[in-house]
Amino acid sequence: MQPDNLEGKVALVTGGTRGIGFRIAEALAEKGARVTVNGRSAEHGEEALSRLSRVSPHVAFEAGECGDYAAIARVVERTVSRTGGLDIVVSAGAAGTLGPTPFAEMTPEQIESGFRSRFFPRIYPVHASLPALRARGAGSILMVTTDAARHPTPGESVIGAVGAGIVLMTKALAREFARWHIRVNAVALTLTSDTPGWDRIFSKPGFENRLFSKAIERFPGGRAPTAEEVAQVAAFLASDLALQVTGQTVSVNGGLSFGGW
Ligand SMILES: NC(=O)c1ccc[n+]([C@@H]2O[C@H](COP(=O)([O-])OP(=O)(O)OC[C@H]3O[C@@H](n4cnc5c(N)ncnc54)[C@H](OP(=O)(O)O)[C@@H]3O)[C@@H](O)[C@H]2O)c1
Repeated sequence: MQPDNLEGKVALVTGGTRGIGFRIAEALAEKGARVTVNGRSAEHGEEALSRLSRVSPHVAFEAGECGDYAAIARVVERTVSRTGGLDIVVSAGAAGTLGPTPFAEMTPEQIESGFRSRFFPRIYPVHASLPALRARGAGSILMVTTDAARHPTPGESVIGAVGAGIVLMTKALAREFARWHIRVNAVALTLTSDTPGWDRIFSKPGFENRLFSKAIERFPGGRAPTAEEVAQVAAFLASDLALQVTGQTVSVNGGLSFGGW
């Protein structure tokens, strides 16, 4: 069997109903995995399922807020009871309560909710999935993080600090889980075209629009990556093609990080 063939594997993609998570879910389904997508809204779930079912009959949606441990544990439990196990977890769901904002302009409540709404939704699904992955004897975890974790970005102090936490968790968990043959990797992103976030950023003027317009000018290839290009890297890391890759955060940014970070 080709190592990127995912037939027989079960994948859960949190934040998999839209944007990057959705495209990763689609890529995993195209490679043969049975895929469950998660998100908060049933409407987004229905839309995702109708698109995914064109690729595979083995797709499902489980609603749940990733920042609520009991809710995401139920998502994992229902996925496992429907499919019989779990091999791949992609943690991509975390909306964040506030976009890029200069630190001096943030209220204490916004600082606190910035960490709470971005960090816990990323790591709770990983923790809740661990017993099911261990029961399989091997597994693959992929988290989505931000390049602001590596490169100080105006307005993204809290977002970057959360992202740096994910980069460190990727290494620390890879080390802890190696004994169970569970790999942990991350993809770091700056900006991705053809996502709802892109439309939101560029549909109105303001701080975020100016920040990311500057970033686009700096992409060495002259454009931001597409969700499809991110998804192919994510699917590679999740597959057995990357069996010897763990603890790594791979920036998918067309070389924006040539500067050394
Ligand atoms: N796009 C980029 O280039 C980029 C750059 C840096 C970081 N990121 C991070 O990568 C992740 C995905 O980005 P994206 O652009 O694909 O975002 P998106 O288009 O907004 O999609 C987010 C997905 O996650 C779900 N979701 C959001 N919060 C959730 C929560 N708390 N619990 C469960 N599901 C949740 C959404 O569905 P519902 O709304 O129905 O819940 C949707 O399916 C985000 O965390 C984002 O901050 C993205």
